[in-house]
Amino acid sequence: MGFDLDVVVVGGGGHVGLPLAIAFADRGQRVGIYDVNPAAVDKVQSGVMPFDEPGAEPVLKRVIADGRLQPSVDASIVSKAEHVVVVIGTPVDEHLNPDPKVVPAAVEDLAAHLRPGQLLVLRSTVYPGVTALVERRLAGLGLDVDVAFCPERIAEGKALHELFELPQIVSARNPAALTRARKLFEVLVNEIVELVPEEAELAKLYTNAYRYLKFALANQLYMMANDFGLDYERIRQGVIYNYPRAADLPAAGFAAGPCLLKDTMQLAAFNNNNFVLGHAAMMVNEGLPLYVVDRLSRRYDLPNTTVGILGMAFKGESDDTRSSLAYKLKRILRFKAAGVLCTDPYVTVDRDLVPQEEVLDRSDLLVIAAPHRRYADLATDKPVIDIWGVRGEGVRV
Ligand SMILES: NC(=O)c1ccc[n+]([C@@H]2O[C@H](COP(=O)([O-])OP(=O)(O)OC[C@H]3O[C@@H](n4cnc5c(N)ncnc54)[C@H](O)[C@@H]3O)[C@@H](O)[C@H]2O)c1
Repeated sequence: MGFDLDVVVVGGGGHVGLPLAIAFADRGQRVGIYDVNPAAVDKVQSGVMPFDEPGAEPVLKRVIADGRLQPSVDASIVSKAEHVVVVIGTPVDEHLNPDPKVVPAAVEDLAAHLRPGQLLVLRSTVYPGVTALVERRLAGLGLDVDVAFCPERIAEGKALHELFELPQIVSARNPAALTRARKLFEVLVNEIVELVPEEAELAKLYTNAYRYLKFALANQLYMMANDFGLDYERIRQGVIYNYPRAADLPAAGFAAGPCLLKDTMQLAAFNNNNFVLGHAAMMVNEGLPLYVVDRLSRRYDLPNTTVGILGMAFKGESDDTRSSLAYKLKRILRFKAAGVLCTDPYVTVDRDLVPQEEVLDRSDLLVIAAPHRRYADLATDKPVIDIWGVRGEGVRV
């Protein structure tokens, strides 16, 4: 049976799904997007990115104009594509519990639009065992659809390079499905890593937990140095200089965003909440804003100080505020300081932000909370707290 489209991306209006859909379309595939967010779909339809992703918008405009990318809020578009890639969000709840049913439930909602002969590719970061659960559900519904799990490993802001550069992990239980998944991702890259689904599920969680733990180590070493009155960044530069074994020791900074903590907690939950290093990393990383404020309170009369926060995104050059620790810093300072003013040149979703000039003008003290490059040469006579080392003037607080 023929298909009108090569790929449909379910959740294709999101931070991961949209770059993926654009990348496939850029490689000549006929691509559909199904997303439940009409605002995102409208923007994509008019060739506008709903969020910042460097390099994406010109390609989006081109693939929309030549009809290679068709966004829709109508789930029936799913039946038109040979490959159905599901990359919807998989957050943990407010108690850090994962919900293993999100992806299987979304797939069941699509069941009426799935057709024999399709390959269903799960690409969300899932709780281990979700691929097997989806396979069982589809078999229970009598649907003859191949299933693969092929995790996404891009970093936001680098998607349009990394989708064409990073090796793709593909997994499936049956050899035919594995071959199909391999062929699909060979459209993007030459290097494919084959695993079985459970290995691939853990591989994705290990990828993010590893990164989260590395940041936690850096942050704890930062606090240790700082408490000794020493500058962590000077020590780090000494450690990494021409020393490959420690070359990936990160700078200090708020380790935040929608993935790293969430996926470390998914892994902990999967292992019966037994992930000592993961939980320790959470305490260190989530504790850093508290540590910074505690240190500030020793040096400044906070109840009579207005603090300006520079950068509210969860990382540099990003407009994404999801799970940003800048907001935790803001909450703590609201309680402890005379006033808090926040600014970010990229963020568009926060009505409390004020222009940078106003923050510089009205604040007594400035804290860089997201390492946007423009803060490197910001002209101000106010003290600037810069734990990331953006300004190269020391990271002590
Ligand atoms: N953000 C990252 O940097 C990143 C990197 C690698 C992997 N991931 C993983 O990718 C997945 C998606 O993350 P994201 O950051 O793109 O999330 P997102 O919230 O930006 O995007 C998810 C999209 O799915 C849509 N959606 C939700 N439920 C749907 C449904 N039932 N049917 C159709 N559309 C639906 C939403 O409207 C949204 O547009 C998560 O599992 C995440 O862990 C994220």
